[in-house]
Amino acid sequence: MAFLTALGALVALLAAAYTHLFIYKQWTLPCRNVKGPEPVSLLFGNLLHLVRHHDLAQQMADWAKIYGHTYRYRVLLGKPRICTIDPAAINYILSHTEIFVKPSAGRKYLASFLGNGLLVAEGADHKRQRRVLNQCFNQQAIKDLLPIFYDKAEELSEKLLGLVEEDPQNEAAPTPTKPEGIQIGGRKIDVMKYIAMCTIDIIGLAGFGYELDSLSGTKNEMAEAFKKMFSSFGPLAIVQALIPGASLIPTKNMKDRRASLATTERVGRRLLAERKAAVHADHVESVNKIDVVGKDLLSVCVRANMAADLKPENRLSDKEVLDQISTFMFAGNETTSTALTWTLSLLSRHPEIQDQLREECLAVSTPRPSFEEISAMPILAGVVHEGLRLYPPVPVLIQEAQQDTIIPLDTPIEGRNGQMMDHIKVSKGTAFTTAYSNVHCAERTWGTDAASFRPSRHFQAKAESEGKGSEASAGGVWGNILTFSGGVRGCIGYRMATG
Ligand code: HEM
Repeated sequence: MAFLTALGALVALLAAAYTHLFIYKQWTLPCRNVKGPEPVSLLFGNLLHLVRHHDLAQQMADWAKIYGHTYRYRVLLGKPRICTIDPAAINYILSHTEIFVKPSAGRKYLASFLGNGLLVAEGADHKRQRRVLNQCFNQQAIKDLLPIFYDKAEELSEKLLGLVEEDPQNEAAPTPTKPEGIQIGGRKIDVMKYIAMCTIDIIGLAGFGYELDSLSGTKNEMAEAFKKMFSSFGPLAIVQALIPGASLIPTKNMKDRRASLATTERVGRRLLAERKAAVHADHVESVNKIDVVGKDLLSVCVRANMAADLKPENRLSDKEVLDQISTFMFAGNETTSTALTWTLSLLSRHPEIQDQLREECLAVSTPRPSFEEISAMPILAGVVHEGLRLYPPVPVLIQEAQQDTIIPLDTPIEGRNGQMMDHIKVSKGTAFTTAYSNVHCAERTWGTDAASFRPSRHFQAKAESEGKGSEASAGGVWGNILTFSGGVRGCIGYRMATG
């Protein structure tokens, strides 16, 4: 009898939950008129479809073709999510950071290893941090880092040439070369792996004046710690970050992460103490031996944070400065190496552009051109721009509304009831997926060859109209594209990544 009563109560509870989540909530949604794919699972909505698709951006582009520039799909427990490639909607989202923030679950997860660094901080904390950190990323600060970029580029080049000459039995790629791919004087190399080593080293030196020795292969405790910290992703790690108390479960991941956090904090504190002492002593030569002494982002940050004209309430705490070290490594490393790898892949598929670029590079008289000389290389600029347009390393971003709001649309959409809508109403808690990679392939802006790699489009557009595409109105921080996002939360490191 007791069992039947319990079963009855459970069924009633499930029925009530179902009615609330899937009937009442869906019916009262302000955005219910927005079309979209039917959910394939009650529990997971359309998520499984997205996760299983080999190309998430392509799936989103396919839905946009069917349902319009702005459409609705569902995630866990029927929760609505809106995907948009509409420039006016994206501009609204990026410029209203008081309304749109990172979803709290994602933020909590990032905070579990990045602390309250710039990527995680919100509101007044973010504003205060950004004001100080902007000084680390201005043009002069990045120019000062150029020698590090060249030193490491040369080390990478030597490493790759060394691999070509090495014994072919030592595999330099995860899979052996196919017989038809064997070339005299050539070698199959996992280029992304070595580029990633190079960007790790660059962020270490440029970010906080620390040699991480990734390219040289020397064992390094800080490099190991970052590697473990950022590779401990996975469903269990996410659950442990999100469910209070779950982090106490002593999994291997959790132990590794704790040990890694302890290492980055210990080394970080030492670096911070050295920088502060150097600023106090006003003779930065004692900081370390690299020839851009005191020019790394951490030094600039410490100096800016200790400036006499900065009010005490606007200064960053030591912990906040420390949190930027992991933040720079997390935000700046894989993004840059992914972008470079895709750009090289594009060049390998377009040998004619490779030839033009090589010719442009060989015409420069010095192996270490200045910032100004690099800026005067149109083919290089076009190649970088196209790589970042076609393969944005962060292809989608998710932002959640903190309050009810109305989103304007550049391209009206047809609602489920057949009426055209030039805006959509959303309630607090509705999340938006802005599919940057799809915005970048809009034929309306980029022409019928939007999906093609054509570097000349950038210098032609510049000459003709300084690029007045729709993306300009979407508010990207760099080059009329959204690769570095936009608004006050746009990528602070875009100058470092693009020059
Ligand atoms: C090709 C390379 C890069 C790409 C594609 C890229 C892209 C982005 C994007 C899309 C965002 C917005 C993220 C969000 O709103 O959640 C962002 C933010 C950020 N990026 Fe980058 N990034 C790159 C390189 C770098 C570098 C080199 C650094 C620094 C060393 C850096 C540091 C940051 C930081 C600190 C933020 C947070 C900014 C804020 O919230 O105020 N990024 N980046």
